Amino acid sequence: MKTRFLCLLFVCALIVACTKDKIYIDTPLDQILTTSLIRASKTNDLDHFILPDSDDFTAIPQDIHNPLSTEKVFLGKMLFYETGIALNATKEAGKKTYSCASCHVPEAGFRPGNAQGIADGGIGFGILGEGRTKLAAYRDHEMDVQGVRAMSVLNVAYVENTTWNGRFGSSGANIGTEDRWDLDTLLAVNYEGFESLESQLIEGIKLHRMDITTEVLDEYGYRPYFDAAFGNEPATDRYSQKNAAFALSAYLRTLLSNEAPFQTYLKGDRTAMTEQEKRGALVFFSDAKCYHCHKEKNLGANEFYSVGVKDLYETGTAFNTSAADVKNLGRAEFSGRPEDRHKFKIPQLYNMGDASFYFHGSSKATLKEVVDYFNEGIPENPNIPTEKIARQFKPLNLTKEQVADLTAFLATGLRDGNLNRYVPEQVLSGYCFPNNDLFSRIEMGCED
Ligand code: HEC
Ligand code: HEC
Repeated sequence: MKTRFLCLLFVCALIVACTKDKIYIDTPLDQILTTSLIRASKTNDLDHFILPDSDDFTAIPQDIHNPLSTEKVFLGKMLFYETGIALNATKEAGKKTYSCASCHVPEAGFRPGNAQGIADGGIGFGILGEGRTKLAAYRDHEMDVQGVRAMSVLNVAYVENTTWNGRFGSSGANIGTEDRWDLDTLLAVNYEGFESLESQLIEGIKLHRMDITTEVLDEYGYRPYFDAAFGNEPATDRYSQKNAAFALSAYLRTLLSNEAPFQTYLKGDRTAMTEQEKRGALVFFSDAKCYHCHKEKNLGANEFYSVGVKDLYETGTAFNTSAADVKNLGRAEFSGRPEDRHKFKIPQLYNMGDASFYFHGSSKATLKEVVDYFNEGIPENPNIPTEKIARQFKPLNLTKEQVADLTAFLATGLRDGNLNRYVPEQVLSGYCFPNNDLFSRIEMGCED
């Protein structure tokens, strides 16, 4: 009698628990999708695609020479937006007017809101950075612009060799490429044995005409934050560009799109994606075979391919680039190997819908155009010999519905709508950011 009563109590408790936690049974679509995901993953489980929490410092990939800490991440979060470190501008008019975020705009998915990205020598912002253009005082070659579109820095913790041609870092694809490091003075940093991100940013601070000076340390007040982040180093080394690069790297490693619906879905909430996004994910991870290339945690990969797209000079809106730009060579600019010509790194795919410029040459304006391009499988750049084009790039014969579903998965399923959590309220100098020229200040509401 007593046991029966206890059993009844137990059953009641179970029902209550179930109604409180809302049970959800995988639909047939969820079952097919999760099975495809597991099959597409390297590790044979859904975890392969799950991004860690941004404060889970043990789970985020990092450099053993630069272990993550809250203090470094905070300092990096200031420096990334700090227009006050833009001290080595080519002309007086450019001084203190730009930051890393001029070209990696958070609201644009941490890439530029225009085709190219302009820091020194630029003026204006618009809403997402699309309004930034050339400052009259600069000639084209004096501007800080590159011959490829700025990549997104979202989920960059999972990029083994950074930049479109992967030239930074001594590991990964760059093992055995030492003979190339001497050819470009920027690449000597690869000998120092840091991870790619740290290496790139040591050079990046110089390349983008920034500096850490006593003005930065004492007038804006950065000194105590370097002390907090790098207090174990002698004071003579502590306030260096290298440590600024290390702090920036630490911050960038925490920029994870871990609140995207697809992430929430993977973590068990099967209601996080709409039916259309789920069908689109299924297209990505089965029929369209996108995952053959976009296969790592960030849905990019440390491999280089040509998918036949145009170069930036061909878009007609870019500064200081041309048919002769070595950037057009892709991986071959770095490796010197003819077989690497026109091959570019497989980029990450989160928050792609936040800006309107796709591929290294910004040749496509919408995600629908990108999906149509992959579906049609016809190279748009006639200058690329057919044998250089990835053999996976061929007509996919997706239906109209599949194209729409795949586009929805990319646009909203992979969109973390809360990236603002990574943006500071203000930087230590108190200057306007990401840009601080008069036009930008007015557009961004920094002027009264
Ligand atoms: C003038 C625009 C511009 C500015 C300013 C800029 N970047 Fe970039 N960034 C780019 C471009 C362009 C690329 C791609 C470069 C290439 O492929 O050669 C890039 C690539 C990167 C990458 C590599 C991403 C990947 O997936 O491989 C990182 C990391 C990065 N930038 C961080 C930064 C940081 C940190 C700063 C500030 C110190 C900064 N950038 C300032 C334009 C800019
Ligand atoms: C052969 C490997 C490969 C396959 C298969 C592939 N991609 Fe890509 N994808 C790339 C490479 C490489 C790039 C960069 C190309 C460039 O800009 O030169 C890219 C770029 C992209 C971009 C633009 C990203 C950016 O930063 O501008 C999107 C979006 C994209 N791919 C989605 C897809 C989808 C969707 C599929 C499946 C229909 C797919 N890809 C299949 C290799 C591949």
